[in-house]
Formats: sequence, structure tokens, C-alpha cells
Amino acid sequence: MLRIDILTLFPEAFSGYLAHSIIGRALERRIVDIRLHNIRSFTHDRHHTVDDYCYGGGAGMIMKPDPLFEAVESLRGEIGEGNYPVILLTPQGKLFTQEMAGTYAAFNNLIMICGHYEGVDERVVEHLVTDEISIGDYLLSGGEPAAMVVTDCLIRLLPGAIGSDISLVEESHVDALLEYPQYTRPPEFRGWKVPDILLSGNHKEISDWRRKQSILRTARRRPDLLKKAKLTDTEMNLVKSTDLNNN
Ligand code: ADE
Repeated sequence: MLRIDILTLFPEAFSGYLAHSIIGRALERRIVDIRLHNIRSFTHDRHHTVDDYCYGGGAGMIMKPDPLFEAVESLRGEIGEGNYPVILLTPQGKLFTQEMAGTYAAFNNLIMICGHYEGVDERVVEHLVTDEISIGDYLLSGGEPAAMVVTDCLIRLLPGAIGSDISLVEESHVDALLEYPQYTRPPEFRGWKVPDILLSGNHKEISDWRRKQSILRTARRRPDLLKKAKLTDTEMNLVKSTDLNNN
């Protein structure tokens, strides 16, 4: 079972999110164990100080190293030493991808540290953390939403978390392509029809149509991803011969 220990200043921020849907079920079925720890409980002064001014001046507060070291060391004492990642969620980290999610989902233990304020003391980065992860090129006010994103993404990869493993294969980002358009009933809604081919029952044609839609959608929206996708010569020609600015 994967155990994720999350160090945060706001453990309450996670409770609503973790209780529902796939994550809630995975917790109930003991596919994953998520433990939240308040960084403040690893302070020893009267005010439970977790941050301090930045050496050299500058606006904003920096997270102190001592509570974070103590928290991780106390977890290590409980879990044991080992090669598991100690992840800091930070806008300065490596951009999180589906591929990284696959790598992390294979561990038995992960520790995540949610950064806050203007950042964390660099000694935490250098001597405590093994991986720094960013979920995108934008600034959040804290690492908590990022830890939830990463946790969500990992859990749905764990065996048994999702009803059918088949649904994991044909998904956006799994093979560097975005997913094809999907429809459910009714077949016509406000005059907008589901493409005939999807109602045809011809599995080969449906599968070809979906593949084509995936490729064209990726070419239009995320040409950066298309470079990583494995396309046949025919598929490459399709991309070249299609006006990608049109719909
Ligand atoms: N903390 C603040 N912004 C972040 C981001 N984009 N990713 C991860 N952690 C963050």
C-alpha cells in the first residue's frame, strides 16, 4: 500500500477533497494511506513559529528549516530510512507530468512538504528534500493545492483505485495525445447531434475516428505534445494536410 505523509500548515484544507469520489474510495479500500501532519506541531516556542524574516532583506517570510527537518526526521523514524522521495511542492520545481506520476505511484512511501509564504529556507531544499515539483507555471499561495493535484494523480494509477484499468489506457496524456471527444445520451440535444459514426456500432471505424480526433486535437491545441507521440507516416501526413486553424 502507498502511504503518503503530507506536511502542511493547513491540514484542514485537505479533508473535503480527500473524502470523495475515487480518492475517498481508495482510502476506504486501503489502497492508499494519507497522513496529514501540521508543521506547527514540530515547533517548540510559545508562539509555534514556522516562518521568519529573509536574510539579506526583502519582502515576505521564509519557512524555517528546523520544524521541517524535525517533522521529516520523526517520520523517517516511524517509516524507516529508505529511498522514498521527499517532495517539496514549489513553483521552482520540475514540471509535474503523467510520467512522473507513474514513477511516484510505484513507491510504498512518499513525503510531501507544502511550501508557503515566500518560500522555504534553502537548506531544506539542499539537505532534506529529494525532489522539487511544480504543477504549472503560475503562482499559488501555498503548496496545498499542488499536493492535492499530485496525490489525486497518483492515486488513480494505483491498482484497484479505478473500476477498470482499461479506462487508464485511453486517456489524455497517457500516450502523449489528448483524448478524443466523447458523448453520452441523448443522441440529439438542442439540435446538436452526436457524430453518426459513434452510433454506427462499427468498432473499427469508431476506433479509427477516435484516433484521428485525438491526433488532430493534439495538433491544434498542444503541438508541443505531438512531438512526443508515436505517429505512423499516414498519421503524420494527416496532420500536415489538415488546416489546424479550422475548428
Ligand atoms: N506553490 C506555489 N505555486 C506552486 C506551483 N505552481 N506548483 C507547486 N507548488 C506551488
